[in-house]
Amino acid sequence: MNDRPTWRLATQAVHAGKPRSRPDFQPTVTPIHPSVTYRYPSMEALDQVFAGTREGYVYARYGNPTVTALEEAVATLEKEDAALAFASGMAAIYAALLTVGARAGSAVVAAQDIYGATYALLDQLMRTQDVTVRFVDANDLDAVEAACADLQPVALLAETISNPLLKVADLPRLADTAHRHGATFLVDSTFATPYLVRPLKLGADVVIHSATKYLAGHGDVLGGVVVTTESLRADMLEVLKITGGNLAPQEAWLALRGMRTLTLRMRQHCDNAMQVARWLEDHPGVTRVLYPGLPSHPDHDLSTELFGEAGYGGMLSFEIASAGQREVFRFFEALELCVPATTLGDVHSLFLYPAHSSHRAVPTEEQARIGIGEGLVRMSVGIEAIEDLLQDLEQALAALGR
Ligand SMILES: Cc1ncc(COP(=O)(O)O)c(C=O)c1O
Repeated sequence: MNDRPTWRLATQAVHAGKPRSRPDFQPTVTPIHPSVTYRYPSMEALDQVFAGTREGYVYARYGNPTVTALEEAVATLEKEDAALAFASGMAAIYAALLTVGARAGSAVVAAQDIYGATYALLDQLMRTQDVTVRFVDANDLDAVEAACADLQPVALLAETISNPLLKVADLPRLADTAHRHGATFLVDSTFATPYLVRPLKLGADVVIHSATKYLAGHGDVLGGVVVTTESLRADMLEVLKITGGNLAPQEAWLALRGMRTLTLRMRQHCDNAMQVARWLEDHPGVTRVLYPGLPSHPDHDLSTELFGEAGYGGMLSFEIASAGQREVFRFFEALELCVPATTLGDVHSLFLYPAHSSHRAVPTEEQARIGIGEGLVRMSVGIEAIEDLLQDLEQALAALGR
């Protein structure tokens, strides 16, 4: 038995996606299956697998047992029927949008401060493919309503916790708006993970994770997972089969291994981030701290409603007083423990400068309009000892004279 619906998240994280029973022996850990193709006892059996009337695998682009184990595990954690893994979070987002109908002549409404590459995918690629794209402030429900009423989009796309402004999406109300206008509601829940919230239980139709981040958790694997219904998964698999953005079995195995400790890591990420946020709020060299766990955050009450006791995640952003690019670079270079590098969700703490990395593709005026200032930095708070993290921040801010 790989999982039971009554098991709690921590138990499911450890057990879901375990190997299937074999008649002779049973490995306790999911094996890596590198085989690209498979033999069957008869051509008739192979034909049945192709037809989908018999369980099995025919070719790596159509599916792989190690990848299936990861998919089952993520679906279990999200309490949904089906998941499909991809070579990256971006491959997952693109396939999900294509599957729900983002094709020439259709429209998509998306949150304006989504991850930079997702913004570029919509703005630079999909628009050239004749998809009408409208970016809106997803926290302004009237604006979302107006855009959906105007465009009747095939998809509404938002992030549970936005990047880098850490806004929290009102998932049930956005789902309601999307559905009233016939749109599929897609949620990128990379920052939240099922540890904080399960958007599919709040009305979302599709949940997307960059598994590169918290799910895998150790900065050593690139991957993406879409969680949805069996029927949408089947449609998405047809897209995957012909576009080929498949996750490799070695990567799936690493991601699955990382996920076993998801709840332990997330608990520590949340605890540390809360302490860092409070410390920064009291620091005179910092003008603004964005963390949903702080009562000063505009979405604090909403996040408490959505995330319950779990916490508020491991991501925060803050603005260094009177800092432009030069000061931010000096701050990053002064860090001794935290790593200035382009990712998030790893066990170690990371810093990123949105204006020059994740949001580089977003025009400068648009960055300013949505609140991504020159002094804004984003921190992915790791699971190190809090005393060491605070000491590192203290000395790096002091190096700036703050
Ligand atoms: C919120 C979010 N979604 C999607 C992605 C894309 O994921 P990947 O880098 O695995 O393609 C990222 C990457 O940073 C992200 O932060």
